[in-house]
Amino acid sequence: ASNDTAAQKRLAGETAIRYVEEGAVVGVGTGSTVAYFIDALATVKERIRGAVSSSEQSTAQLRKHGIEVLDLNATGPLALYVDGADECDPHKRLIKGGGAALTREKIVAEASAKFVCIIDASKRVDVLGRFPLPIEVIPMARSLVGREIVALGGNPVWRDGVVTDNGNWIIDVHGWQIADPVALERELNQIPGVVAVGLFARRPADVVLVGDREM
Ligand code: A5P
Repeated sequence: ASNDTAAQKRLAGETAIRYVEEGAVVGVGTGSTVAYFIDALATVKERIRGAVSSSEQSTAQLRKHGIEVLDLNATGPLALYVDGADECDPHKRLIKGGGAALTREKIVAEASAKFVCIIDASKRVDVLGRFPLPIEVIPMARSLVGREIVALGGNPVWRDGVVTDNGNWIIDVHGWQIADPVALERELNQIPGVVAVGLFARRPADVVLVGDREM
């Protein structure tokens, strides 16, 4: 089964190249599925202007391939963002942040006209929440945010030892069946100290590729 998963991730990453337009600056996510996309992007690198990266990890891989990494403040809006996900529901709403890159991913996704999400079939769920929901927090707010999550019925677990690219910490919330992801995203975003919530519900994906098949 894990061979299958890797094959589907690779297929999804390669299929996403279809959405890359001539001369584009491509928004690039983070993770093992995106790693296949970056390898595929390298084969068309003469036809693009460069990339905006969502993590140090993706930046390193892009640079290794000789793809220029640009500053989002210098590019303006992007046409395309390609990223993986940890879970995807039938409305293309996502849980992301398993790789701790959720804040920059959310920024680049928001700056992009089209979000193409690349996954394998194991990521598909009817209701979000089987995968623990990652939340990036300012370190001093960890306990405060944890208490607010408990009050909302969640079970917060500190991802001890992980520091994000932004110097912050991650809380993973277990035990939530997320019936209304838009409302939960809004509610969590209002807690002081929350930097970003790994729910992509207010702004879901536009296209989801499960392997080479559009969902
Ligand atoms: C990174 O923070 C995450 O949002 C990734 O998009 C997610 O974890 C998917 O990773 P894989 O492609 O490695 O499964």
